[in-house]
Amino acid sequence: MKAVILAGGSGTRLYPVTITVNKHFLPIYNKPMIYYPLSLVMLLGIKDVLFIVNPQDLESFEKLFGNGSHLGINISYKIQEKPNGLAEGLILADEFIGDDNVCYMLGDNVFFGHDLVKIMKDAKNEIESNGGAYVFGYYVKDPERFGIVEFDENGNVKSIEEKPENPKSNYAVVGMYFYDNEAVKIAKQVKPSDRGELEITSVNEEYLKKGRLKVKLLGRGFAWFDAGTHDSFLEAGEFVATIEKKTGLMIGCIEEIAFNNGWISKDQLLKIAQPLRKTDYGKYLMEIAKQER
Ligand code: G1P
Repeated sequence: MKAVILAGGSGTRLYPVTITVNKHFLPIYNKPMIYYPLSLVMLLGIKDVLFIVNPQDLESFEKLFGNGSHLGINISYKIQEKPNGLAEGLILADEFIGDDNVCYMLGDNVFFGHDLVKIMKDAKNEIESNGGAYVFGYYVKDPERFGIVEFDENGNVKSIEEKPENPKSNYAVVGMYFYDNEAVKIAKQVKPSDRGELEITSVNEEYLKKGRLKVKLLGRGFAWFDAGTHDSFLEAGEFVATIEKKTGLMIGCIEEIAFNNGWISKDQLLKIAQPLRKTDYGKYLMEIAKQER
């Protein structure tokens, strides 16, 4: 399975903050927002990652991640000329995905939960064994903002709608999608929505029509933030700060994950930590390097 992380978009919902800075570089507490989705992909053991980025931000992404070799992974980039919607990311990733399955992540989603990685691995295994699409639902108070999934009395998915005016449920589809290889073909057939975007919800709807969409609910014990508004951004940062201070462990620390996965050596980790040594982040990496794996 390959991973595609969508990190384009205009960020208008975070204006004026994002007039000059792409939201994915803004800090969720102590690290750029984009570290969080990348960390999950790495925790899944996926080494081939494509970032979909805006033309003007490519250079900054390259500065931040390069080709990923310092993390023991392969990072490449694809430009999205205009924010034409989430489904376009799949089309742009066509060549990169090739014959493979794909884990498609939104760059502005932050997840936390005890069983998160296990649940993601189950989704990955399901797609690798049986194909189809596998997405996650999460209870929200403001369903008008999201892709919303409706269930029948037996818990089967009945409908899925993008930003409905009259939401049929409070379950939002979160920005982490697992697809078989069909997804690219389906995305290519999607027509723009009323807001003029190729919606990922249309891709999911197509899988639903074919009876190939699985939705797993993330219940108690999970935190999900779509850091797309000033409030959700702040909440995500405060949440990460609280958990990290309480546990002494970092969320979304990509260098730690690379080291724990055995993808980089102790020396490589120390080399990354050295220029960061004045920060808690750098000190944390130094501590990690000292520990026996
Ligand atoms: C996008 C999707 C929506 C999904 C949300 C999750 O919304 O279109 O279906 O629920 O991400 O973050 P957008 O961020 O484009 O408003």
